[in-house]
Amino acid sequence: MMRNNISVAIAASIAPIVLAAGMAFGQGAERTLRDGVYSEARATRGKAVYDAQCASCHDGGSMGPSLKGDDFLATWENKTLRALHGRILETMPADAPGTLQPQELLDLMAYLVRANGFAPGPTGFETADDLDTIKIVRAK
Ligand code: HEC
Repeated sequence: MMRNNISVAIAASIAPIVLAAGMAFGQGAERTLRDGVYSEARATRGKAVYDAQCASCHDGGSMGPSLKGDDFLATWENKTLRALHGRILETMPADAPGTLQPQELLDLMAYLVRANGFAPGPTGFETADDLDTIKIVRAK
């Protein structure tokens, strides 16, 4: 009897630890743009890329759709940052697709997140694969 009570007590105290580990390594690990997903330094480099290679068309430029706010979210809300990255990688800049360097494009992603009103954080993405688990949402 005594022994049973002890194992119940042990099971009860281990359960929350297992649950917490599951959240850290399982599907609970998904982040959204609200979770400080980029570094400020990367976004600042990304702005230079944007100004040189995107601004002539987008957001007040000659032809591209807006890359921030409601117009942008109409297409991209609840998709991953990786999906947006892939779209840009394959089709943009419209007059020279395929010319962006991998680091330029990652920097650009950080700038686009910042331009949509999200704060940076200490554990910003480092690789394109990191973008797989980051969901595009509306800024509060
Ligand atoms: C020569 C003009 C031009 C340049 C330069 C350009 N774009 Fe575009 N972009 C467009 C046009 C036009 C569209 C809409 C038609 C299409 O999807 O191809 C578009 C569409 C997009 C879309 C899809 C938008 C949506 O809501 O679905 C994204 C994202 C995008 N551009 C990002 C970029 C980025 C990032 C750069 C800079 C690296 C860039 N574009 C440079 C013209 C341009």
